[in-house]
Amino acid sequence: MAYQVIIPAAGQGKRMEAGKNKLLLEINDLPILIHTLNVFQNDEACNGIFLAINPQEEQELREMIESNQLTKVIALVPGGKERQYSIYNALKHIEKEGIILVHDAARPFIDKGLLHPLIKAAEKEGAAILAVPVKDTIKKASGTIVTETVERSSLWAVQTPQAFRFSILIEAYNKAEEDGFLGTDDASLVERIDQEIVIVQGNYDNIKLTTPEDLYFAEAIIKKRKD
Ligand code: CTP
Ligand code: MG
Repeated sequence: MAYQVIIPAAGQGKRMEAGKNKLLLEINDLPILIHTLNVFQNDEACNGIFLAINPQEEQELREMIESNQLTKVIALVPGGKERQYSIYNALKHIEKEGIILVHDAARPFIDKGLLHPLIKAAEKEGAAILAVPVKDTIKKASGTIVTETVERSSLWAVQTPQAFRFSILIEAYNKAEEDGFLGTDDASLVERIDQEIVIVQGNYDNIKLTTPEDLYFAEAIIKKRKD
């Protein structure tokens, strides 16, 4: 059950329009990043956290990590221009064995109870991701003209964490690098090495804080969890 986790936190948070990295914004009196790190700090099976960061935020983050006693943060590694490059950098620092989780710092509401089934699936099958069934009707369009309604029953909205055997994840990242392929999640790289990926059904409240209104949803989730 033991694992290491890579947490990409080196984005700019442009769509949040906060004028700084959105992960430093506070919800419930703690920076978003600390909420996320606490989940893994408090999970016994977590052997180490590898955080990809913006180098100019290093000092501030080191202080935050120390004052919140996040002793499982093993390395702060410089992020890259894209999320994928940030994770690739972090992959060079981890122990090269076992199960690796990748989890976006911008998803602070991961349910700790889902980590176990996710990791078990990755141990058995090599690759597993959290996802929820798509609720909206999805259409394709050419510009703003509808061309097709996509059959929804086979659609999943994918989240993090995503879990992989180290050997599979590094092979997928090396191939993406060789091919110049840029994906929007880790599983899309793993698909390209013909590795089967298992879906573990997640929760709808594991949202990624992306645009300003997501902060209202975040307050609501926190309030509900306090009740
Ligand atoms: N991330 C990263 N390195 C990058 C870009 C993103 O480590 N070059 C991280 C972000 O910090 C975030 C996660 O990847 O935790 C998911 O990215 P996203 O939600 O897109 O965050 P940002 O890239 O920061 O936001 P935006 O795209 O709006 O600028
Ligand atoms: Mg981004």
